[in-house]
Amino acid sequence: MTTIGIIGTGSMGSMLARTFIEYGACRAEDIIASSRSGGPLSALAGETGIRAAADNREAAREADILFLCVKPLQVRDIMEECAPVCTPAQLVVPVASDVPLACLSAWTPARVARAIPTITSRCGRGITLLAFGDRVTGADKAALTALFGAISRPYVTTEETLCLLTDLTSCGPAFIAAVADEWAAAASRRGGIDRRAAEALVRETLIATALVLDHHEMDCRDLIEDVATPAGITREGVDVLGEQMPRVWDDILAATGARHRSLRREVERRHPP
Ligand SMILES: NC(=O)c1ccc[n+]([C@@H]2O[C@H](COP(=O)([O-])OP(=O)(O)OC[C@H]3O[C@@H](n4cnc5c(N)ncnc54)[C@H](OP(=O)(O)O)[C@@H]3O)[C@@H](O)[C@H]2O)c1
Repeated sequence: MTTIGIIGTGSMGSMLARTFIEYGACRAEDIIASSRSGGPLSALAGETGIRAAADNREAAREADILFLCVKPLQVRDIMEECAPVCTPAQLVVPVASDVPLACLSAWTPARVARAIPTITSRCGRGITLLAFGDRVTGADKAALTALFGAISRPYVTTEETLCLLTDLTSCGPAFIAAVADEWAAAASRRGGIDRRAAEALVRETLIATALVLDHHEMDCRDLIEDVATPAGITREGVDVLGEQMPRVWDDILAATGARHRSLRREVERRHPP
């Protein structure tokens, strides 16, 4: 059985442990995890039945596939810490953005890949982005695709497009929630409904819209045409969105793109390959 190591049991690390078990990707006893703070790790181990390692090296030593669920600027230090116990037989997979495969390959004798999960895997849906390093084998690709296929839809891409796609699939849930939040705020500014009540209505509409798109395999354009009949009220709002949203989304992707580039420069400056 494949042993899965998880270093860092914050939001992403704990989500991976919980969902891999919940969706049957592996058994709890096949996961060994370590983290900087002992409290949250012990709580996660108690809740799920995974093994709590004494330190990062123990988790790294035992793992066939080792996920590094830490911030981008922490990846290098942890790989350096674990390098004495890592071997070419292992697969190391940071889930951090903007740590290039070339750096990862230079920092460890293990094979390397990158995965960008999504918080929506909590309900077994969403996209996990995967990009593979040169030394990765067909068996590695199959193993990662199977693991993430249990909790999401894996999407294999190149490192060049990973940042842009991350904004869609990993930042995406926060962007969509922010749009819904602003929409509810705008309704409450009109008067007649408070913000919490407006958010409850928007939330249910958001969930139902996603379900309709999914169940009926509709494109967004088809759904818009079904609701926004010519000269109808919805069409007025859709026209405003058509005018204003291209600039909003261009600005969002420009801002996130700039942040990706500065983070990558910072990773490469502090930790050259
Ligand atoms: N959140 C998302 O939706 C999302 C989606 C895709 C990718 N990611 C990526 O996932 C990574 C983790 O994000 P997160 O949201 O899970 O962050 P987080 O909640 O802050 O978790 C990071 C974890 O790493 C631990 N850690 C820090 N230094 C460590 C060390 N030296 N040894 C062992 N553990 C250490 C922290 O321990 P302490 O508790 O002691 O601080 C914490 O538990 C980031 O690179 C992020 O870009 C996040």
